[in-house]
Amino acid sequence: MDLAKLLEDKQICVCAGSGGVGKTTTSASIAIGMAARGLNVAVLTIDPAKRLADSLGLSELGTDLKRVDPKLFKQHGLKLTGELHAAMLDPKRTFDELIERYAPDEDTYERILDNRIYKELSNAVAGSQEYMAMEKLLELHELEEFDLLVLDTPPSRNALDFLDAPMRLARFIEGRSLRVFLAPGRFGLKIAGRGGSVLFSALKRITGVDLLKDLSEFFGNFAEMASGFSERAQRVDALLRGSESTFLLVCSPEHEPADEAIFLRRKLKEQTLPFGGAIVNKVRPDYYRARKQLDGSLSDELLARVMDNYERQRVLGKRDAENIARLEKSLSADKVIQVPLFSDDIHGVEGLVKMVDRLFD
Ligand SMILES: Nc1ncnc2c1ncn2[C@@H]1O[C@H](COP(=O)(O)OP(=O)(O)OP(=O)(O)O)[C@@H](O)[C@H]1O
Ligand SMILES: [Mg+2]
Repeated sequence: MDLAKLLEDKQICVCAGSGGVGKTTTSASIAIGMAARGLNVAVLTIDPAKRLADSLGLSELGTDLKRVDPKLFKQHGLKLTGELHAAMLDPKRTFDELIERYAPDEDTYERILDNRIYKELSNAVAGSQEYMAMEKLLELHELEEFDLLVLDTPPSRNALDFLDAPMRLARFIEGRSLRVFLAPGRFGLKIAGRGGSVLFSALKRITGVDLLKDLSEFFGNFAEMASGFSERAQRVDALLRGSESTFLLVCSPEHEPADEAIFLRRKLKEQTLPFGGAIVNKVRPDYYRARKQLDGSLSDELLARVMDNYERQRVLGKRDAENIARLEKSLSADKVIQVPLFSDDIHGVEGLVKMVDRLFD
């Protein structure tokens, strides 16, 4: 598969897949590779390993996009003719930024941020991380400053959960459970008032926390912003379905991640999201040739030890090959790119450049 050709006329590339397979590393490498091909690229990484962030000069706090120094890559023989920008998303902060954007005034903003419920919600609400990634993506897309946006995705149980997140959050905010709270005059807080008041006032007596006040204040403030949320969620949705977007499924050659990629491929189809290809990362080498080279050049004892280890590796390599064959069969062989397992973790620029070479081979 020709990755550069696929991405040439795309504006958004989403890297999805199960946990730990190399989504973040791949996202960074893809962005570097396309910047080397002259595009103005921005990559949004989620929780990159500290050393990776350091390598890209992202160690300072903050979610702002920063231009990555092209000199870093030049030292390793890769010339970026375009620009590379990178950011790491800090979900908590972006959530606050979002509230800032939608809050009608400073006072409401402060009140929401201070609110106990908000603190809980922004830390724990399912999908807030995903929502924020999407929010940032839309914001950057609408800026129209970049040729290509590469989006890393968080490790979630179902790797496509994040796609539903914006809508889910919007539905939650506009949903019935919230409306009940939002209609204090009608049956809303009255219900809470009658059945709930016993509970709430007991809570207040015991804990000193006026939960009911917190709740109604929180939802009251939120209501004013609900339409902004839902409208943007729909825009992101349309954007990701469009022909300017593509999804790359990242997996490793082990059984479960390969299965997950096949499953995700099906999900993309169901949700009419554009599938670009799959990247099988950390593929173990074929050890067959290694053995040929060793024959005759080692003492018997050493050869026996090497062969013992070799045999184990060979079995793993063989399993990888079987899983890759399975992937190629269900995703179509010309949609699969293999990247070898490197001897070191890919944290430094040197490792990234090696990965770029393999991806854009
Ligand atoms: N081809 C490779 N060879 C060797 N190490 C690799 C390779 N690709 C990735 N790694 C290493 O594997 C680890 C996981 O990679 P990465 O953080 O990119 O995965 P991830 O899918 O983003 O994980 P998470 O789901 O936790 O976000 C990192 O330490 C990275 O350096
Ligand atoms: Mg990651």
